[in-house]
Amino acid sequence: MTIRIAILFSGRGSNMVALADAIQNGTIPNAEIALVLSDQLTAKGVEIAQKRGLKTLVILRGGRKREEHDREIVSFLRNERVDLICLAGYMRVLSPFFVDAFKDRILNIHPSLLPLFPGLDAQRQALENGATVSGCTVHFVDNTLDGGPIIAQRTVPVMPDDTVDSLSARILEQEHILYPEAVALVLKQRFDG
Ligand code: GRF
Repeated sequence: MTIRIAILFSGRGSNMVALADAIQNGTIPNAEIALVLSDQLTAKGVEIAQKRGLKTLVILRGGRKREEHDREIVSFLRNERVDLICLAGYMRVLSPFFVDAFKDRILNIHPSLLPLFPGLDAQRQALENGATVSGCTVHFVDNTLDGGPIIAQRTVPVMPDDTVDSLSARILEQEHILYPEAVALVLKQRFDG
């Protein structure tokens, strides 16, 4: 059985690329990308995904309420028979409707060692709180903000002279390793029996 994965993003798309590479080179076995989806027309990731020949959708919110937007997205995901959803820099909080529609089948990556520093600007929060270690977390998405069950984490040191940019870059490097590892783990446990 080939697991059909959807990747949702809003911007740069580097984690989307890391996942696509891992599926292509077998780090994530028995999986394919059903579609990638952005809520931003200008997202750099959209161009990259299209160049890679991935099925790419842009679904703008267009002034609609969160759930209305999510209902449109969920109907595309269902049409594509998506088994697992990976949020990769998707900057919109999902409505309970969306979370329930794919219960326990939505993952997210966050640039801190959750439960520390949920929400926006996690790297800045780490610096401002004097953390000496930070990292990234892949977790299941539930109806809390970055609060669902943790699947895997990787750590990085925080250097005394770090800026938000230098710390973010160090964490991002680990994100690109962690996300494929975590997806492979979930697929093995969930879909391999
Ligand atoms: C990453 O730092 C991720 O942890 C966070 O948003 C950022 C997305 O980066 N959720 P990219 O678009 O994958 O390059």
